[in-house]
Amino acid sequence: MNILVVNASPRGKKGNTYVLQEAFVRGALSSGAQVKEVFLKSQKIKPCLGCMMCWIKTPGKCIQKDDQAELLEKCVWADLLVLVTPVYVDGMTAQAKTFFDRLIPLGHPEFILEGDHCRHPPLHPKNWKFLLMSNCGFHEMDNFDALIMHCQRICTNFRCDYLGHLLRPHGPLMGLPEIFGEAIGRVTQAAERAAEEIVRTGLLSESAMTDVSAEIVPRDVYIQMVNSYWSAEKGKAASEG
Ligand SMILES: Cc1cc2nc3c(=O)[nH]c(=O)nc-3n(C[C@H](O)[C@H](O)[C@H](O)COP(=O)(O)O)c2cc1C
Repeated sequence: MNILVVNASPRGKKGNTYVLQEAFVRGALSSGAQVKEVFLKSQKIKPCLGCMMCWIKTPGKCIQKDDQAELLEKCVWADLLVLVTPVYVDGMTAQAKTFFDRLIPLGHPEFILEGDHCRHPPLHPKNWKFLLMSNCGFHEMDNFDALIMHCQRICTNFRCDYLGHLLRPHGPLMGLPEIFGEAIGRVTQAAERAAEEIVRTGLLSESAMTDVSAEIVPRDVYIQMVNSYWSAEKGKAASEG
């Protein structure tokens, strides 16, 4: 299985979402998959101009010369696309959205009716799958709702099979291995197992998804921790002037 992992966190390898990604990639490689990782923070990808030249004048190619050209090739190569994004204002990051907007060259301009819906025929018809990997700052699982729905719609648009999601609520705790090492270990092992499962069976089980999202601390404790953290940070900033 060829897996393209697209990390859309502005914090890249320093980010909380990367903790899940690292474990997932480990599991995928040990199961024999080919994996390519891309960090959008270090790619030069301009926003879509909406000029539609990729449909008319240079089919399959954007007229903007930047790093997205290579990413389009990687998408054609991939059997599985993994989007790794933190929740930003109830959705994906701007980097992720720009990446998806710039996938438009992968379709033809014409409309076809498919399952009672207008669609664009793909330029490179293929069976590919999609996995969402995310973490968010708040405690509740419903903070992922809008992002999940958006990704499912993207999958319909680009004819990807939506496999499921590995979601980490109260995600900033992933950056505290000295305090939550054991719980983080359980989460990363679950992410690793999820990768093995996907490579082996092409599917992701409910239990793998649930294990990655298991509560690390109760909400009231988390709120206290977060508020003490911000109070200390503000105090530091004030004392530095
Ligand atoms: C601009 C911005 C918007 C955010 N919006 C949300 C949000 O709507 N809901 C939420 O639960 N967390 C939100 N967060 C918190 C991040 O999802 C959280 O800090 C996450 O752990 C960051 O992941 P990363 O370290 O991989 O970038 C936001 C953070 C930033 C910087």
